[in-house]
Amino acid sequence: MDYEQEESKYLLHTYKRNYVNFVDGSGARLYDENGKEYIDFMSGIAVNSVGYKHPALVKAVSEAINGVHHISNLFYIDSQMKAAKKIKELSKMDIRVFFGNSGAEANEGAIKIARKYGEANFETKRYKIITIKNSFHGRTITTLKATAQDRFHDFFGPYPDGFVHAENIEDAIARIDEHTAAVMLEPIQAEGGVYAFAKEELVRLREETKRQGVLLMFDEIQCGIFRSGEFLACQTYGIEPDVFTLAKGLAGGVPIGAVCTTLKDAFSPGDHGSTFGGNPLSTKAAVAVLGVLDEEYKSGILASTIESFEKHLNGVVSDFPHLFEKSVGLGLLRGLKAKSDEIMQNAITEGFKEGVLVIKSAQSTVRFLPSITIKEDEIEEGFARLRVALSRISG
Ligand SMILES: Cc1ncc(COP(=O)(O)O)c(C=O)c1O
Repeated sequence: MDYEQEESKYLLHTYKRNYVNFVDGSGARLYDENGKEYIDFMSGIAVNSVGYKHPALVKAVSEAINGVHHISNLFYIDSQMKAAKKIKELSKMDIRVFFGNSGAEANEGAIKIARKYGEANFETKRYKIITIKNSFHGRTITTLKATAQDRFHDFFGPYPDGFVHAENIEDAIARIDEHTAAVMLEPIQAEGGVYAFAKEELVRLREETKRQGVLLMFDEIQCGIFRSGEFLACQTYGIEPDVFTLAKGLAGGVPIGAVCTTLKDAFSPGDHGSTFGGNPLSTKAAVAVLGVLDEEYKSGILASTIESFEKHLNGVVSDFPHLFEKSVGLGLLRGLKAKSDEIMQNAITEGFKEGVLVIKSAQSTVRFLPSITIKEDEIEEGFARLRVALSRISG
């Protein structure tokens, strides 16, 4: 069947897809309908944090679906409390959590917290939120406007007022005024070229925002959930934001989002809500996933996975200097900065043919987002395939 033609009759045309039909998976391996195997170095864009068919995730989701998989937030939900408790424990911060269904929704929650904080605490009714060039914060109207990339802003205006796009962190600090409620950023810009901000810059931003009573909000949707090597990227940097958001890998593929804040009374009943958010299906999955990943971290396995992945990336840069400039990113949120967009695209296409999945980012960067639980043999195999693919590409 011509999947592309068939699909185009029924779905809105939002994605430029690859029409491979994946039908099975195990660990970091995926299989298409013809039985071809792929090593997955992108995990559904940082979602499948424990890979495919992880027994703990299978058990949690099966238990939920065989028991009570959804209850309204008008009732107590035990796994919701447990998931929030685990996030608090892992963050080592004194926070409370609200669960939604996606990253954009988590960021909407963060924006509402900032607006309420600004309204309640300042005579000037602060409402502005400063975001940083090349950021990505989501696809709702408000999170699109928060995303400081003009190319996302065609067609959908008028946008909500109150977003200021700064060039960089110094510029963000310079733009703080009596109307600023918050500065929001990804400590590692994932879509924007896998760019990890320097520690000194983030430390200075933390000091300045604190001094001026402005909230610091970290979008940890792609860089959180152990991807940086710690539970949160902010822990890698040794910084505590006032608000952070999670989604993607939090429940290993079951849709979820969370906004977490040290402003423990940020919301009162009626201020915010969600029908699906935090239901037993997603929060049981989150508890299971966080348990698995915490073990991976505490046992030191994650540190050696990162070391191995880094070694392989550096090896590719030194063996293919005509294709790549350098390796970028942190932990298991990595990139290879290619010498051109064409090389980046060829690496992805040829890699796919060879049976390894990688994804693009901005600035001609080939992005790597393997599952946090990826095994050494899967890493070896994936890089072996990538090298075969790269040897076919000329610079
Ligand atoms: C940093 C960041 N923030 C927000 C989002 C939006 O998340 P979602 O697609 O779940 O709404 C993404 C998704 O790619 C992201 O990477």
